Amino acid sequence: MTSNEKLKIWVRETAELCQPDSIHWCDGSAEEYDKLCNLMLKQGTFRKLSEKLRPGSFLCLSNPDDVARVEDRTFICSRLKEDAGPTNNWADPVEMKTTLTRLFKGSMRGRTMYVIPFSMGPIGSPISHTGVEITDSLYVVCNMRIMTRMGKRALDALGATGTFVPCLHSVGAPLSPGQRDVPWPCNPANKYIVHFPEDRSIWSYGSGYGGNALLGKKCFALRIASKMARDSGWMAEHMLIAGVEAPDGRKTYVAAAFPSACGKTNLAMLIPPAAFKGWRVWTVGDDIAWIKPGPDGKLRAINPEYGFFGVAPGTSMQSNPNAMLTLSQNTIFTNVALTEQNDVWWEGMTDTPPERLIDWHGKEWRRGSVTPAANPNARFTSPAAQCPCIDPMWENPEGVPISAFLFGGRRPGNVPLVFEARDWNHGVYLGATMGSETTAAASGAVGRVRHDPMAMLPFCGYHVGDYFSHWLSMKNRFDGDARFYHVNWFRKDASGRFLWPGYGENMRVLKWIIDRTRGVAGAAESPLGFLPRPEDIDLGGITGFGPPEQHAARFEELQSINRAAWREECVAQKKFFESLGSRVPDELEKQRITTQASCT
Ligand code: OXD
Ligand code: MN
Repeated sequence: MTSNEKLKIWVRETAELCQPDSIHWCDGSAEEYDKLCNLMLKQGTFRKLSEKLRPGSFLCLSNPDDVARVEDRTFICSRLKEDAGPTNNWADPVEMKTTLTRLFKGSMRGRTMYVIPFSMGPIGSPISHTGVEITDSLYVVCNMRIMTRMGKRALDALGATGTFVPCLHSVGAPLSPGQRDVPWPCNPANKYIVHFPEDRSIWSYGSGYGGNALLGKKCFALRIASKMARDSGWMAEHMLIAGVEAPDGRKTYVAAAFPSACGKTNLAMLIPPAAFKGWRVWTVGDDIAWIKPGPDGKLRAINPEYGFFGVAPGTSMQSNPNAMLTLSQNTIFTNVALTEQNDVWWEGMTDTPPERLIDWHGKEWRRGSVTPAANPNARFTSPAAQCPCIDPMWENPEGVPISAFLFGGRRPGNVPLVFEARDWNHGVYLGATMGSETTAAASGAVGRVRHDPMAMLPFCGYHVGDYFSHWLSMKNRFDGDARFYHVNWFRKDASGRFLWPGYGENMRVLKWIIDRTRGVAGAAESPLGFLPRPEDIDLGGITGFGPPEQHAARFEELQSINRAAWREECVAQKKFFESLGSRVPDELEKQRITTQASCT
């Protein structure tokens, strides 16, 4: 229990509202985790995987209607509608609280209510913040133990007077006396993921999955924290953090924002090619960065999370060996397939699937079947500490100093592999206008660019125009010299083939970026910013980039700028800014006009 009066009152009132059978305060111990996992084994929620092949790990299959974040059921309930902005669903906070109070009334009947105190970020760090999640889902408790620093230590740090973000969650499936539970309780008909940015509170109802239910992640660390950050002069960003170590031992940290399906985890855990002796990439975080100006005047970043909630399909010993080693034990797998050896499998893990599997619906699956064995959004929840390339400084309470921001997307046409912004404002413009080309699976409109500013479209907890202004203002809050880069691993040639090999070879781009921040790499000016020329980038020993005598020409093609197409891009950016309304800062429109004019 706690001496924190506010917390005691909130727990008491929540119990009165939700009417659980019992209340459990999570201490975060290994014994507690084991006990709760065993309970889920008994209930059929978890299946124990082979202790030999996948020690300490479990498989969980969700309800097939509860497999992803539900953006259309996600709300930002600021007092004024215009403060949520055009990119968020808004609802009146008073009306929404009435709706939610009705839904949560008795929603935990027949269940235990778990109280999870957690710290986002290392306990005691000046960059960290505390949350408390109340949930009736055992799955949430066990995942939160991997994803956050939770239990007694977080409660102790909160103390009698500390403040916390209350995060209330219910699967919305009360049990009547004697009613048998299902392995994945949820409410298929009614889901609400609701944020009150001014109260700094979260209410989530009806889903047990991922970002809908593990409320420390997208709901707190991005939507609520982005508002906290704007109010107090820091940044909560949808960014990986990586430390790039040069052969001289110096490490340079970068933070990078990419929309989904752009290889964010792969970049965070990159293994340099053989030609890059002495270079290493260290992972601080794979998804979220909290960045505050430090006492040394530098921008200091932490990863607020404690684990990875990664997309499993596509992850393999080829694409990301460090991720595969991370999830080799003590991992919860959700919606992947089960092998005959009681291990896991997903599309892309091996070239040839096993002959027989149990698929994510729990049904027999045969090689050659037309349906995927794993859900495309199947996940692994693994402790970050298990990552072989976890940065020794990843838990440094002071954070790591950020020297460069990277923005990127999936842009098959016209966007160079890499270019550098001229200054801070130009960099913010690059982030504000970034986007990714949609795939057939996502929208049916292949080849359309979906603008996703700083990869925050579904995660900014307030008006996106104000968010841009906040980014612009941050340059006055620190003395450092952070630079901005736009990268695109996905450019294709006229016949539709990727021009750049990607994966580990992206190290060459990282090296150029690091050398630029150190002032030792060259570049040429262009309408888009500074571009590396073939002689500025180390292509020695590159694989998948044609014969050496063609490298320079291929690189020129990769970096080429079609000015007419860029003018069209700028026109699309204008439409995008207009769609966001009058709060888009004039400075960004000025940057856009300058770019368009220099492309004539
Ligand atoms: C995620 C996402 O799950 O960005 O990390 O959707
Ligand atoms: Mn993410």
